[in-house]
Amino acid sequence: MPRQVDLARGADLDGFRRAARALVAAGVAPTDVVWNADSEGLFAPEDLGDAPPLSLPRALATIVSEAVPHSDPERYALLYDLVWRVTHGAREVVEIASDPVVARLHGMQKSVRRDIHKMHAYLRFRSLGPSAPGEPERFAAWFEPDHWILEAAIPFFVERFRAMRWTIVTPKGSAHWDGDRQTFGPPGTRADVPGSDGFEAGWTGYYESTFNPARTNPKLMRQHMAKKYWHNMPEAAAIPALIRSASSRVDAMVEAPPTMSLKREPQGALAAMMEGGAPETLEALNAIIRKSGPLVPGATQAVVGEGPANASVVFVGEQPGDEEDLKGRPFVGPAGRLLDRAFGEAGIERRDVYLTNAVKHFKFEQRGKRRVHSKPTAGEVSHYRWWLLKELELIEPKLVVALGGTAVLALTGKQVPITRARGPATLLEDFAGYITVHPSYLLRLPDEDAKAAAYATFVDDLRRVREIGGATRRGAVPA
Ligand code: URA
Repeated sequence: MPRQVDLARGADLDGFRRAARALVAAGVAPTDVVWNADSEGLFAPEDLGDAPPLSLPRALATIVSEAVPHSDPERYALLYDLVWRVTHGAREVVEIASDPVVARLHGMQKSVRRDIHKMHAYLRFRSLGPSAPGEPERFAAWFEPDHWILEAAIPFFVERFRAMRWTIVTPKGSAHWDGDRQTFGPPGTRADVPGSDGFEAGWTGYYESTFNPARTNPKLMRQHMAKKYWHNMPEAAAIPALIRSASSRVDAMVEAPPTMSLKREPQGALAAMMEGGAPETLEALNAIIRKSGPLVPGATQAVVGEGPANASVVFVGEQPGDEEDLKGRPFVGPAGRLLDRAFGEAGIERRDVYLTNAVKHFKFEQRGKRRVHSKPTAGEVSHYRWWLLKELELIEPKLVVALGGTAVLALTGKQVPITRARGPATLLEDFAGYITVHPSYLLRLPDEDAKAAAYATFVDDLRRVREIGGATRRGAVPA
């Protein structure tokens, strides 16, 4: 008789882990289990007894934690199928992207990540005023996620709005922050959150002033931001009128003095939304980059990023060097060889991560026969910034690693001393960030002892990157 496992409503990661351990230990094959997702938790999986943790490849542990919040009721059955095969001799199956179960789970991971991204980008708080005179002001927001992402999405808001007191209400649960402690509560309805407050005039004004009528593409705007999010966003009320007046506003823009273009200064989600005809896949983006000419003449070709389109970690360097320019691939010269060695020592497989550069063309000074690297200016970095942000938006990595100052400048718009900022950092709102030195800095250190010490610290950084971003196929962690 098949075993029934009832898991609690939502993302029951602990329940799934406990059940999977117990079922594997008892030798229960996937075909003999009926997974009842989103039950009221009446039949807790403790009934199955306790079993020791399973040793699963890190990549599978990541799939489990990222696919469990998906709303597909089949998620647990698919995950257990994979866990079973991995624990019965097919350890490598996790890496076979064409395996139908792996492919479906990767799709779920991507959809969950996108849902979290949308919540971060489109949720808007409204003021509720203070609960009593003299008390701090409270805020509330309504959001409709597709998946059970509330717990995964909340740390971003805690970090960003730590000083405020707020509640986020969704049909799948609510979250509260009292300035000190985070708690979760029952679901709510849109009526629980007031519709508008004075703050909205500010949002709408900001949006109207940044709206670029020449780039209006209503179809793409809807594709990028489903209409269901529009009513949450005060600035969206301005959209129909702005679209209607777009053509006369374009005429006015042509007459007006030049301003900073969106291409140089993208405004996060708004810019992406308004980039009419922007590429929607990494291949399409890279094809355009390849066709674009260098800002400074001389480069043989554009060097685009390299690695899996669903990599969980993206490394951003400065610009291609001499060898990269000739071969058309990033990090294949001396700095790349050093990076490969450090990856090896940190347990990172190069083929698992995405490597790219802030600037896509080699800039150099010709000295005799040598082409000597010349640092890109802030203006050049800003010119390529749109491409880089688009790459990251399409890959949706878990972690973005800035290798050196130019990458930090490209990602944050700021010049930052690397030695002070080194380690986990906020580079962009939508992705966790990490700052470390550029490998060519290590190559340039004149003193051998200093070089060895700096290299060891760099490898330590990469180990932390691997821990945070899961950028490896090696190693095993308990599920
Ligand atoms: N340095 C970089 O920043 N990128 C490369 O691709 C090579 C060297």
